[in-house]
Amino acid sequence: MTPLHGPSIRLRPPVPADYPTLYSWFSDPEVVAPYDRFVSETYEGFVHSMSDSIDDPTSLVPRFVVERVDAPGPLGVVGYFSPHPVLESIEVWYIMGDRAARGHGFGREAVGVLTDHLFRTTSVERVGATCDVENVASARLVEGLGFRREGTLRGAFYHHGRWHDVFLFGITRGERLPPVAPG
Ligand SMILES: CC(C)(COP(=O)(O)OP(=O)(O)OC[C@H]1O[C@@H](n2cnc3c(N)ncnc32)[C@H](O)[C@@H]1OP(=O)(O)O)[C@@H](O)C(=O)NCCC(=O)NCCS
Repeated sequence: MTPLHGPSIRLRPPVPADYPTLYSWFSDPEVVAPYDRFVSETYEGFVHSMSDSIDDPTSLVPRFVVERVDAPGPLGVVGYFSPHPVLESIEVWYIMGDRAARGHGFGREAVGVLTDHLFRTTSVERVGATCDVENVASARLVEGLGFRREGTLRGAFYHHGRWHDVFLFGITRGERLPPVAPG
């Protein structure tokens, strides 16, 4: 697959040379799970899932590495998955593993590029996102892209020793992409 481009960042599929960096992020709860459940796995298990799960629509495998157009090298990862066995919806997720790269708009740009890609390459009408209600950066990221807060799932997520409420966000095709001109 050819990379997907935004003004400052591009999304490209992960390659084996990225795996040590990605694994180091996924092994650090302060990086990947400040508002999430932390699950550790071996490096071998991580590498195995990268190659084995890519065709599974429900997998949380990283689908794209985020890197700057002018300075290649992984800054983060984004993914998408089908969260429901019946409903036609795709959910996006995102982690800026390089903490020095946070707060510069790269995360929002990456999720915007991914969302547009999903609308262009699938027939779904809605792209969703969820986050812990305390994850201000994550909520602001998607709100800035036009995702609407559709509700709150109460006590839906257990991590850091207690139950957490979760915001449900969604954006529809018409809200994100310009209408196609007739003819
Ligand atoms: C959430 C995350 C991906 C944001 O990435 P980022 O590149 O820093 O995001 P951006 O720079 O595009 O900023 C997006 C919005 O978040 C805000 N923001 C960024 N860091 C913030 C922080 N620490 N606290 C509050 N708001 C913050 C920005 O100001 C911006 O909002 P605004 O334009 O309305 O002011 C990043 O913080 C991260 O990887 N967190 C850990 C993993 C995670 O929580 N992923 C989401 C799981 S649902």
